[in-house]
Amino acid sequence: MQFAQRMSRFGEEIFAALNEKKLTLESQGRSIWNMSIGTPDFVTPVHIREALAQSAMDPESWKYTLRDIPELTQAVSAYYLKRYGVTVSPDAIMSCYGTQEGCGHLAMALCQEGDTVLLPDPCYPVFKAGVLMAGAEPAWYPLRKEHDFLPYLPDIPDEVADRARFMIVSLPSNPVGSVAGPDTYAQLVAWAKKHDVLIVHDNAYSDIIFTEEPGGSFLATPGAMDVGVEFFSLSKSFNVTGARISFLMGRKDVVDQVRLLRSQIDFGMFLPIQKAAIAALTGPLDSVREQCRMYQERRNTLCGGARAIGWDIPDNRGSMFVWAPIPAPYTKSMDFCLDLLEKAGVLCTPGSSFGPHGEGYVRFALVLPPEKIREALASIDRSGILHLPA
Ligand SMILES: Cc1ncc(COP(=O)(O)O)c(C=O)c1O
Repeated sequence: MQFAQRMSRFGEEIFAALNEKKLTLESQGRSIWNMSIGTPDFVTPVHIREALAQSAMDPESWKYTLRDIPELTQAVSAYYLKRYGVTVSPDAIMSCYGTQEGCGHLAMALCQEGDTVLLPDPCYPVFKAGVLMAGAEPAWYPLRKEHDFLPYLPDIPDEVADRARFMIVSLPSNPVGSVAGPDTYAQLVAWAKKHDVLIVHDNAYSDIIFTEEPGGSFLATPGAMDVGVEFFSLSKSFNVTGARISFLMGRKDVVDQVRLLRSQIDFGMFLPIQKAAIAALTGPLDSVREQCRMYQERRNTLCGGARAIGWDIPDNRGSMFVWAPIPAPYTKSMDFCLDLLEKAGVLCTPGSSFGPHGEGYVRFALVLPPEKIREALASIDRSGILHLPA
């Protein structure tokens, strides 16, 4: 059968070799410390689960919802004001089935075939997939160590900036763990105005941040509401990754277009999930703060522990990911991942899978408790992989 031409835009599954090796080792009874996937091991707060369960018992909840209920968009609006000091009108807010889905469809609403979209390299994979699905072309801006793994606007040629429809910025970052500096967003807003580019900010990790300043929203930047929209995922802050809850908000004309696109293919989020989201946004936030402290403890255990055994991994400043340079003599992150799994039973993700500038690094997800991270480090130390001859 002849399949759609657009399917050829997507790459091959590159994790097959790692998965296969993991299954083989597990079948041999080997211990595996899996830090490859960013699925949190923390529990969803009980008030969120109760709200969903209660709503699910009401037969009325099982009908088409057709739209976001007003209490939901009002809850998001009130949360943004309280948490980030940002005023967003409820009618400039829409739900999506996770930022993954929202980002996947965004370019279809914003781009013509062949349009340019600026994306970070390395990046969260759906940024690229969404652009390719819409037939648009990614233009990459590198996240480099010498610029603290932040977007460096002077390096983006004017000619590319002028033709770009939108630019995705995602901080704190997956996979590199960088955090916006004091001027990052203000510079972005000025640059976006100059080049008439929409900024799409992905706010997934503002509650997992280890700097003195609490995590914020891009939309809090003066002028941001004129040039930008923001995805706001509840997945990691509230450990609701399976429920698929995120919001798109900001510039109303953009949100309206995406809503129009969604209304062609969707009848609205399951009501019990809307109720769970309201419970999350209006309920206590102690668990969110406590969880951030626990992520920081894991970060300290992993990065500090690695440095103590001779692997110089810098502390990530935010997100649940540690970005680690691969040790010599390795030059390819996939080779190192395969060997690390084979020799030490530790599974992480090759940096190359996030884009060419990810080569030379691996990503660890902080999804194990400190005692397990210490075990993984002891196993890495015993394996000798950090001290191989050149
Ligand atoms: C940078 C980034 N954006 C978005 C998401 C996806 O969030 P959601 O669960 O809302 O699709 C993730 C999840 O890992 C992420 O790392």
